[in-house]
Amino acid sequence: MGEGRAGDVPWWRRAVIYEVYPRSFTDSNGDGEGDLAGLRAHLEYLADLGVDGIWIAPWYPSPLADGGYDVTDFGNIHPMFGTLADADAVLEEARALGLRVIIDVVPNHTSNQHPWFTAALAAGPGSRERSLYIFRDGRGKNGDQPPNNWISCFGPEVEGSGWERVTEREGRPGQWYLHTFAVEQPDLEWRSPDVLQRFDEILRFWFDRGVDGIRVDAAPAIGKEPDLRDADYGGDFRFMTLDWVGNPHWDVDEVHDVFRRWRAVANSYDGDRVFVAEAVVSSAERLSNYLRPDEMHSAFNFPYMKSAWDASALRTVIDATLDQLVPIGAPATWVMASHDEVRLVTRYGRKTTSSAHFADGQGEVSDPVLGTWRARAAAMLTLALPGGAYIYQGEELGLPQVDDLPDEVIQDPVFKRTNGATRGRDGCRVPLPWTGDQPPYGFSPDGVTTWLPQPDTWGRLTVESQLNDPDSTLSLHRQALKIRHEHPGLQTEDFAWQDSARGVLDFVRGTGFRCVVNVSGAPVDLGDATVLLASGPLLDGKLPTDTTAWVEST
Ligand code: NOJ
Repeated sequence: MGEGRAGDVPWWRRAVIYEVYPRSFTDSNGDGEGDLAGLRAHLEYLADLGVDGIWIAPWYPSPLADGGYDVTDFGNIHPMFGTLADADAVLEEARALGLRVIIDVVPNHTSNQHPWFTAALAAGPGSRERSLYIFRDGRGKNGDQPPNNWISCFGPEVEGSGWERVTEREGRPGQWYLHTFAVEQPDLEWRSPDVLQRFDEILRFWFDRGVDGIRVDAAPAIGKEPDLRDADYGGDFRFMTLDWVGNPHWDVDEVHDVFRRWRAVANSYDGDRVFVAEAVVSSAERLSNYLRPDEMHSAFNFPYMKSAWDASALRTVIDATLDQLVPIGAPATWVMASHDEVRLVTRYGRKTTSSAHFADGQGEVSDPVLGTWRARAAAMLTLALPGGAYIYQGEELGLPQVDDLPDEVIQDPVFKRTNGATRGRDGCRVPLPWTGDQPPYGFSPDGVTTWLPQPDTWGRLTVESQLNDPDSTLSLHRQALKIRHEHPGLQTEDFAWQDSARGVLDFVRGTGFRCVVNVSGAPVDLGDATVLLASGPLLDGKLPTDTTAWVEST
């Protein structure tokens, strides 16, 4: 790559981006935690895998109350990961390998240890410092009731009140502040000109250093109705933003003013600097608002990620996505896993294959063999669809969710705040296995205890062992990405369904490329088509169930 555009198509419309969760990628200094030197050492692995770029989950200084999404300094690097010089080296070395770099920016909240927030606490009610956050007096006689009924995502109680009361300097109970996520993540006030200004500077800081793009965390959260009216959750006080319509603290129309402003900042730079929105909203139409030509370039496709392994559900979500995005000229961004989701091998090996909430389904029995077949087939579906795609680290290895982490190592706030009822997201954040047949599998130097323990059974899942096996999940990804780059049909945004039996997804892309996904339970005859790649062996020339084939179409 290296150029801003391949032909006349901007790079981000078709890019495959690999999500790096830096704490779990590679540890170079033996503290059991991943770091940027570890990432640098494996950039070549990523270039060889065939992805076009990486998205690095938050790398900022943070007390890690929410895995780094609680930031204390947006202009620096967590000492555990390294220094700004290491970040510059990542950017430079990635560029030299033709890899784009997208970083995470978290605009809805800071850490409660961010100097802006500690200053706000110290300065007291009515101060300019407090105006950066959403502080309000409580309701009730002594102000001891939260200002309204808004709920938070995880904590102090999961899906309890989104408000926390502070103690003022004189020691008396004081105002309340809003936290849409954990109590350690106070929400910023995006009506404040100071907040707007400070984030312009943050964007410029990173664009100046050369990042190609920014993933915008929890984009719909930043706007709040100014009257702070109570929300109508329809009696279901759960953080189900895919279902929220007209909610006063989620996907409020004013958020778009901010993103228009951000787009102008990005446009003032050379090269294609892009935004990708994390926007879990109620419809493809609401999502398309984030993708207007003067806002974000792309957005993760959550309905696709959460869909069941079921042909009709997948077809519905693919159609809904394309119907909404094609007319407005925005690319689809297909994604099936992330640092927030149960790993695909485990989810697809369960009876319930859809995912409705980030922590769902845990404890349900999973068949890893079935899950692996399906995850391989799904990866080939994802990489055959028109638009961009994301691969979460470890999915290319077919790693399962580690759902038996000992209680005492779990760090996700969700775990403690549900009294252990929900194990949270650590099971998909276990350090990657690179080499060898026992922990730490080359993630850390031998003998080091990793921040989350790796299973003893991952020897056959290491990068080293899979590189030597042409049938491995890693080899499948490498071959698929190679074909994706080379096949002319996949260089277009064309897409057309073919007639197919029930339970089969069958589509063509441009000239000569056809993808067949069998979720039907019966083998599918591929005729005498030339198979370019299949996610599993064909049986008597037929495509077995839970298998995808890419074939040369006539
Ligand atoms: C979405 C991130 O992906 C998740 O990990 C985080 O907990 C929330 N946003 C809050 O920042």
